[in-house]
Amino acid sequence: MTDSSSMTPIPVGLDDGYAFTKIALPDGRLIAIPSRGRIGQSGVTWVHQGQQRIFEYETEGTVYSVGAVDGEATNFEGYPMSGLNRSIVQHVLQEAGLAGRTVHAVSGLPVSTFYRKNGQLRQGTIDKKRDSLKIAARPMPETLPAGIAFHDVIPEALAAWYDYVITEKAGEAKLDAERLSTPVAIVDIGGRTTDYVVVKDQGIVHASSGSLQCGMLDVKQLVANAIEDRFDLENLGEQLIAQAVDKKAVRLHGKDYDITGLVDAAKQEVVERLHAETRKQLGLGVELDQVLFVGGGTVALAEHIADWFPNQAIAEHPAFANARGMLKYLRYVCEASNAA
Ligand SMILES: Nc1ncnc2c1ncn2[C@@H]1O[C@H](COP(=O)(O)OP(=O)(O)OP(=O)(O)O)[C@@H](O)[C@H]1O
Ligand SMILES: [Mg+2]
Repeated sequence: MTDSSSMTPIPVGLDDGYAFTKIALPDGRLIAIPSRGRIGQSGVTWVHQGQQRIFEYETEGTVYSVGAVDGEATNFEGYPMSGLNRSIVQHVLQEAGLAGRTVHAVSGLPVSTFYRKNGQLRQGTIDKKRDSLKIAARPMPETLPAGIAFHDVIPEALAAWYDYVITEKAGEAKLDAERLSTPVAIVDIGGRTTDYVVVKDQGIVHASSGSLQCGMLDVKQLVANAIEDRFDLENLGEQLIAQAVDKKAVRLHGKDYDITGLVDAAKQEVVERLHAETRKQLGLGVELDQVLFVGGGTVALAEHIADWFPNQAIAEHPAFANARGMLKYLRYVCEASNAA
């Protein structure tokens, strides 16, 4: 394709979390894939291309497999700057049909990775993340990569605030003056971290903002430990555990076992930690006009968090609130992308 429309960069909101990689596209599409992959080739030959479930990418001389693999945990400090992250991001762009296209992207970092507690930027980390995703990741074999030509990084939960204050109607974006002037807290319950951001008078209140290292991946870990204990097993695969949490049942040796009790207990334990931290960060929320819950954990824990604040709300498609906000930030705030 050489027509001019295929040359125009595509703006993408790119929420490359530890559990799921979510993107928001200007045509309204929202796409998520599990952040699941590992170093090395898959060692599987696909007889029918259409059934391919593992995809390989090469970046900086290393090959990664992404898709239906029992992945290495993304749950490590350097993940946002890693080749594994680049390969998973490239995969979601391929899934969105952006092979061969130039992409402008905004992604995020957890609040406490982005800011020091005193509000200073952790510029070195931010630069590393920004540069990492501009390094090429090539699909193997031979498909054209999507190339990220422009990339900016914002704090994850703040992205959801942009989603909240910038509203789009009939293709027109506008700043919601009322929402802009009200003090609001965003609570983003993710996989590895739960992020807090309080915005007042269009500024971040750093004393009430930050990240707790606790989220839905902890639920998965607790369930994994409990299953291994109960059935006297070890090293169960990550995909098996993920399914067990979703279905509250586990299939072992061809037989299904109900584990509703285990899953509920694990959720309860994580909810209690989240509740304590939320109270610590936000108090009773009396000075806040709104507490907005976002992130995939908000869906998974909906019934447990329903009555934390009288003035709370759950964002629409909460798992995609950050990705939508990143896209809005890119399109309506980022000057560089307008100038490009
Ligand atoms: N629609 C859904 N229904 C039930 N659970 C969901 C749904 N979407 C996501 N989740 C759960 O929420 C968890 C967190 O998802 P999310 O996409 O917010 O994490 P993340 O952004 O990748 O993590 P982090 O922000 O820590 O990097 C997932 O592990 C998943 O189990
Ligand atoms: Mg997240």
